[in-house]
Amino acid sequence: MPTLETTVDGIKLPNPFVIGSGPPGTNANVVGKALEEGWGAVIIKTISLESSKVTNVAPRYARLRTASKEIIGWQNIELISDRPFEVWLDELKMLKDKYPDGVVIASVMEEYEKDRWVEIIERVQATGVAGFELNFSCPHGLPERKMGAAMGQSLEIMHEVTGWVMGAAKIPVWAKLTPNVTSIAAGAEAALSAGCQGVAAINTILSVMGVDLETLRPEPTVEGYTVPGGYSCTAVKPIALRMVKECAEVIRDKFPGRSLSAIGGIESGKDAAQFILLGGDTVQVCTGVMKMGYDCVKPMQDELLAFMAKHNFETIADFKGHSLQYFTTHADLVRRQAEAKAAKARPKAVVAKDGEWKGSEFVQQSDALARG
Ligand SMILES: Cc1cc2nc3c(=O)[nH]c(=O)nc-3n(C[C@H](O)[C@H](O)[C@H](O)COP(=O)(O)O)c2cc1C
Repeated sequence: MPTLETTVDGIKLPNPFVIGSGPPGTNANVVGKALEEGWGAVIIKTISLESSKVTNVAPRYARLRTASKEIIGWQNIELISDRPFEVWLDELKMLKDKYPDGVVIASVMEEYEKDRWVEIIERVQATGVAGFELNFSCPHGLPERKMGAAMGQSLEIMHEVTGWVMGAAKIPVWAKLTPNVTSIAAGAEAALSAGCQGVAAINTILSVMGVDLETLRPEPTVEGYTVPGGYSCTAVKPIALRMVKECAEVIRDKFPGRSLSAIGGIESGKDAAQFILLGGDTVQVCTGVMKMGYDCVKPMQDELLAFMAKHNFETIADFKGHSLQYFTTHADLVRRQAEAKAAKARPKAVVAKDGEWKGSEFVQQSDALARG
């Protein structure tokens, strides 16, 4: 019988399905709901020391649908948590008491100041959370304050800030990378070389959902105006898979043993299997929970277990990163194809050694030797 139980950076998880930072982990009530529904871990909505600086607008989501009305793309211009830091500290302690075995990971973000990062790490760590995710990747609103993606887009700053955090953290730390860069591999390397246990990718992709052809205003429209926002959901999955693959290669080649939390458009066990095959230790789901509800984790687990049983994989480790070996260069594809074509053109029946004569193909083999 395959098992979904897995241990990542010393954290024991009942399964690799993790709630990604966002609305599904936005207060103790919903975090508790997620743990009760069987999620392997919950990453809370990103918190900071001063929530008074965070003011959200509405509407702040815009969705892309297919002709049959299925939601495949989701844009948000939501900021980090607008709930007071002290309230969060109380709630994190309460969650630890109520769910001692539940895995809660704190997503944190601060301004570019060492003291602030050390303070947030030390105070949140004291609540008993299992680990940290550093939000270096929110693409809207926060970069105006030089936070989020503004940090993730500077390799030097991300490396420096991760180093500050590692000086204060006594629990595992994952750096959440922005996809809004030329090379996410360089981002992974910058964070990992500062000593963090793992990376998480991807956060949302900077986007403009569309323009209303009646009002001529881009969406989502707030008092007639907007800002580009973060794109998530099924539509980003191919891009996320490519970026996860690039992070996995950095870990394989330069930081063996570090972890990777894969994110982007995951809505099923089959999606999860693909991200694990490309190197994910865990898989995060955010928009999928907003579409389907917390209990979507059950069919996801069943589907992943069925995939494992079909391939005789006993554990997540048995297939983690398995498909990375099938990436190569385009020149190598050309060479392989030429070789395959040449092999096909060679007459199959030609006997090279006497041991190759077969009773079932004797006449064809004789014939082939007559043709040369
Ligand atoms: C409405 C919304 C709010 C989000 N808020 C945060 C956040 O506070 N911190 C963070 O690190 N990521 C945040 N994210 C990004 C998600 O955690 C995730 O990286 C991204 O949406 C891609 O995964 P998905 O397709 O499963 O949603 C948010 C995403 C959405 C849709």
